[in-house]
Amino acid sequence: MKGVILAGGTGSRLYPLTKVTNKHLLPVYDKPMIYYPLQTLLDAGIKEIMIVSGRGHAGDFLELLGSGSEFGVRFTYEIQDEAGGIAQALNIARDFVDKEAVTVILGDNIFQDNIKDAVQSFKSGSHIFLKPVSDAVRFGVADVDKNSVRVLGIEEKPEIPKSDYAVTGLYIYDNGVFDIINTLEPSGRGELEITDVNNEYIRRGLMKYSVIDGHWSDAGTFDSLLRAGLMMQNGL
Ligand code: G1P
Repeated sequence: MKGVILAGGTGSRLYPLTKVTNKHLLPVYDKPMIYYPLQTLLDAGIKEIMIVSGRGHAGDFLELLGSGSEFGVRFTYEIQDEAGGIAQALNIARDFVDKEAVTVILGDNIFQDNIKDAVQSFKSGSHIFLKPVSDAVRFGVADVDKNSVRVLGIEEKPEIPKSDYAVTGLYIYDNGVFDIINTLEPSGRGELEITDVNNEYIRRGLMKYSVIDGHWSDAGTFDSLLRAGLMMQNGL
């Protein structure tokens, strides 16, 4: 299993905090934001991790994280030239992932749960992690059939969410993910959407999900960044 941390994007929702640095380097309580998704991958036992960042601050990630020896793992770095969406950023990791499966985590997602069991028992298809939230309109939202434990579909930032299950920024994919990305068309906002990747797995009947028990927050807006910091301060 390979790991990929996606740390690109412009961080426009956090401007001017992101005027001279990358969002994922900002502090969340006592650590740079990217340390948290990194810890999630480390706790899952993943040893080969690629960090995809945008232009401009890539050297800062190298400075901060180094080779990986400090963490007992190996890091590889790549650049997403322009902000073309999460699926486009993941596609950059194609050669790195090679013939293996991949756990992908967004660099601004902070999890309390340990996902080791899901990662280590993963065989094929895909797996997403859902969390009930009160502000589902901000996220990808999953419609699930609780009886059959199936995901029926995902809508990206729907005006009227079909459930309160946010799709968190943590995904496990088999190697077929790259062929799916190749078939995608840019969305209305001009990006290759990870939600389109997930809906293709759902259409093929190859998507599993679990609902996470512990705290989860993104940190891409002023309020969620503050909430994430408070979560950490209170001993997550
Ligand atoms: C992205 C995904 C969305 C997901 C969210 C989790 O949204 O597109 O489906 O729910 O991450 O943090 P973004 O934060 O890029 O708007």
